[in-house]
Amino acid sequence: MTADTIFETDTAPSAADLAFFVDQKPALATFLDDALTGLSAEPKQIAPKYFYDERGSELFDQICQTPEYYPTRTELGLLDRHGADIAAAVGPDCLVVEYGAGSSLKIRRLLGALDAPAGYVAVDISRDYLRAQMSGLARDLPSVPVGAICADFTKGFDLPPESAALGSRRLGFLPGSTIGNFTPDDAQALLARSTKLLGKGGLFLIGVDLKKSKQILDAAYDDGQGVTAAFNLNLLKRMRTELGAELDEHGFEHVAFYNREQGRVEMHLEAKGEQTISLEGQDFTFSDGERIHTESSYKYAPEEFAEMAQRAGFEPKALWTDPDGLFSLHLLEVAVNA
Ligand code: AVI
Repeated sequence: MTADTIFETDTAPSAADLAFFVDQKPALATFLDDALTGLSAEPKQIAPKYFYDERGSELFDQICQTPEYYPTRTELGLLDRHGADIAAAVGPDCLVVEYGAGSSLKIRRLLGALDAPAGYVAVDISRDYLRAQMSGLARDLPSVPVGAICADFTKGFDLPPESAALGSRRLGFLPGSTIGNFTPDDAQALLARSTKLLGKGGLFLIGVDLKKSKQILDAAYDDGQGVTAAFNLNLLKRMRTELGAELDEHGFEHVAFYNREQGRVEMHLEAKGEQTISLEGQDFTFSDGERIHTESSYKYAPEEFAEMAQRAGFEPKALWTDPDGLFSLHLLEVAVNA
């Protein structure tokens, strides 16, 4: 999208609490097309964005509460413990731009800690969810102007002219180790695009999961209550109920493990015995043990991530980690020559 794209400003009553709601009309790939392409690929794969229907989003919230999945509570702890340091490093009057409109708990903590934030803009592909989340936030935080942009931040977006009134110094915010679900090349490309959006003096606060023992990582993605397994298997249910696929949901199992060589946790759906998924008149056959790769979650040592950020045009400005070395918050600044 370019700066002279004509934006559509939404004035629907439910957007009344917002400083603006702009729909940049992101292109929506369809689940059906992506499922057909992914099942035809070698090895078979389905993009993790398809985890998040209503049931999948509920299950993700439950994952965040399991004792094994440490990232959410550790990042919240970092925001709490280092809120004053983050505020001091960021300074007053910045416009916070969040990539995604995920856990409002995190943005509430960040906005609560910052010194007089000039405004907050969330960017998310899910229009109705975005509107509902942001209207709620705007009502709860009357002193912070809240705007929303319906766009696909993974592909790039622009800040609309309305955002200029909310402040010129920008702080990007990408919590939750969402960056880990991109390949390292795509993560670097997203960071490089962000230097343009955040501009001179712009900052980026990013939550990044750290490399650690295989034991901790394997458990985090295969919790004892089976919530992550249900989250992964929900993809098959979606294929069956939404796409009309014929498949045996009990014929696959959740497999998750830390692949140390690749520096990532991988999640797969593994066929128990020979299986077939029939979709749109095509049969996709599985031999016993064959997998659909459903997610990669990359983990970065602090210096590894800082080096990637430098290659993308940022200077590392501050780093916060917890005493157990589980999770990191990187504050980056757009490099002068970016
Ligand atoms: C959203 N994302 C950062 C989570 C992660 O840790 O990669 C998704 C997730 N998958 C299984 N558990 C959590």
